[in-house]
Amino acid sequence: MSTADHPTAQDADRLALQARDVRFDFAELPADWIPTEPFASHLIDVLHLLLPEGERWFVDVFSRALPLVHDEALAEDVRGFIGQEAMHASSHQGALDRLIEAGVDVTRYVQQVEWIFGELLGERGLSGDRAAEWLVERVGLVAAIEHLTALLGHWVLHSPALDAAGADPVMLDLLRWHGAEEVEHRSVAHDLYLHLDGRYLRRIRSLAIAGPILVKLWADGVVALCARDPRLAGTPGARVRLRDWLRASRRGLTPGPLLIAKAVLTYLNPRFHPARHGDTDAAVAYLALSPAARAADGTGEPA
Ligand SMILES: [Fe+2]
Ligand SMILES: [Fe+2]
Repeated sequence: MSTADHPTAQDADRLALQARDVRFDFAELPADWIPTEPFASHLIDVLHLLLPEGERWFVDVFSRALPLVHDEALAEDVRGFIGQEAMHASSHQGALDRLIEAGVDVTRYVQQVEWIFGELLGERGLSGDRAAEWLVERVGLVAAIEHLTALLGHWVLHSPALDAAGADPVMLDLLRWHGAEEVEHRSVAHDLYLHLDGRYLRRIRSLAIAGPILVKLWADGVVALCARDPRLAGTPGARVRLRDWLRASRRGLTPGPLLIAKAVLTYLNPRFHPARHGDTDAAVAYLALSPAARAADGTGEPA
């Protein structure tokens, strides 16, 4: 499909995507890294359970798609994307390891996530045309998920309530460094999908599949973490958690339902392109300040 109608990552403000070799020291991380806000802390902690496997799967899918790219600028973006997502996976893995060290048993949940990305969304032993078709299908799913991660990245870059609540600075830096890179590379998966296929209905179907599965996985993760927290043990159940989520999101401590509604509505537009949404300047500005990114490029103190 021609990309003539679409702004692309190769447009005027195109960034050369770089994988920053960041380090985060979670040795001093409190369980409530948003003080006195266990629910909001757990809701965001679900990212550490989902992202290591999910982003390693992105890397695998994009590494398989890279030989099919016949546009050097896009191929360079895909390589940059792969490098950034690999660092995201290992950084969130560090946070997950910290949770496990602190005695939070998430084995069953993480095994379920591993099965989804490793088996259900894996290679399936296909070959020839069926393997090629399955690869494009998965690029479409990654593009839909990347639409969500770009919106989440924008949210966390504009979340002063977390600072006001005294959120742990190392965890905030992890989230905002990651969010900034999601905003930086928000066009790559969409451009790759346009390059390989680009059909509108398949794009919408991808969000219709990936969106509800992610929401369900996220909700299950919140319930799993809250059920292990003695302070929240008296309030189990999905209805209570939904009320807690609405309350936390209204206070600006977590993303809320409006973000999901915006994600769906913008994606339905046949002329949707991520370059028209999001704020690259805010991402670049944060990366210039991020302690981890500055340490990685030698302009700041190591963590
Ligand atoms: Fe990421
Ligand atoms: Fe991403």
